[in-house]
Amino acid sequence: MPQGALLRSPGGLSAAQVFRLQGSVPASKLRARLAQLLTACARDPEDRVVTLVTLSLAALDGHDAYDELAGALGKDAPLPRRNGDDVMRSTQADVLVQVAAGDVEARLWPLRRAVDALRGIATLEEELQGGRIGKGREPFGFVDGVRAPTPEEVRDVVTIPRGKAAGATWLFYQRWQQRLELFASLRDRAQENVMGITRDGGEMPNAPKDSHVTLAREYHRGVAGAFIRRGFPIRSWGEEGLAFLAAAKDPRAFALALDIMLGVAGPPDALLRYAYPVGGGLYVAPPSAEWLSATGASTRL
Ligand code: HEM
Repeated sequence: MPQGALLRSPGGLSAAQVFRLQGSVPASKLRARLAQLLTACARDPEDRVVTLVTLSLAALDGHDAYDELAGALGKDAPLPRRNGDDVMRSTQADVLVQVAAGDVEARLWPLRRAVDALRGIATLEEELQGGRIGKGREPFGFVDGVRAPTPEEVRDVVTIPRGKAAGATWLFYQRWQQRLELFASLRDRAQENVMGITRDGGEMPNAPKDSHVTLAREYHRGVAGAFIRRGFPIRSWGEEGLAFLAAAKDPRAFALALDIMLGVAGPPDALLRYAYPVGGGLYVAPPSAEWLSATGASTRL
């Protein structure tokens, strides 16, 4: 079973935090703290908030599943990614926490808890607050999350089925900035040509080949390209964008998607003229606190 937070999203308020481990702190210490955080976050009797706790592959060094996870990733991490001069850079850190809450106060709790849990060993590098996961309208005004996957579909797409990493999930994160003014200067039809769907999520029979959804469907329909999107719109100091988050059992799905966006084997995604990625990285969602503590005696705290 994947971490429970991957299957539920109780409300319209999201948040994400990214932490970086401080220099000489052993990965096993981070994992012990995260196991406590996972246990604490699982106890929300009123069901007002869910918290997804993830960590980098590097932070799993010494864990029983490390070799299998590293083998599945191979040498091709999704970020950094480039095609000629176009580069999507990596800001890979060590912990990513994603929160979905029903009200503002409930959203604050896990954010405070995570900072407390990691005090003295990791530094908060990013904190984003925004809207609903995969529903509603993204900042350009297009309906997002046209069809929400069922819990069974999520389980099937995101859960590593066997081996020492069974139950774990890869989580890809990329923060996007959207050029709202530039996009707004396009006529309605031209905007739809960029996205490849109508504003309300309707089909466009003759959508341009480089439109976002047309290109996305090229890989997304196949098993190898399958991931579940769980991003949310963000706004901070007048800047808007998307915290793109996606979960999969096969980490190669993300590299494939980004290569197609960058136009490695065809036209680049038209969306890249109106939005650009700021950074991101790849994380692993452990299935449980117990799994996180399953390390050889030499690295156990
Ligand atoms: C600013 C960045 C982005 C914006 C504004 C955006 C917006 C959208 C919108 C409006 C849709 C159609 C509605 C829906 O199905 O939810 C969509 C679909 C999709 N997007 Fe994005 N997206 C962004 C980045 C990305 C990235 C980075 C990826 C992959 C790495 C991606 C992959 C997809 C996929 C797979 C679909 C579903 C296509 C389908 O099967 O119909 N998007 N996106």
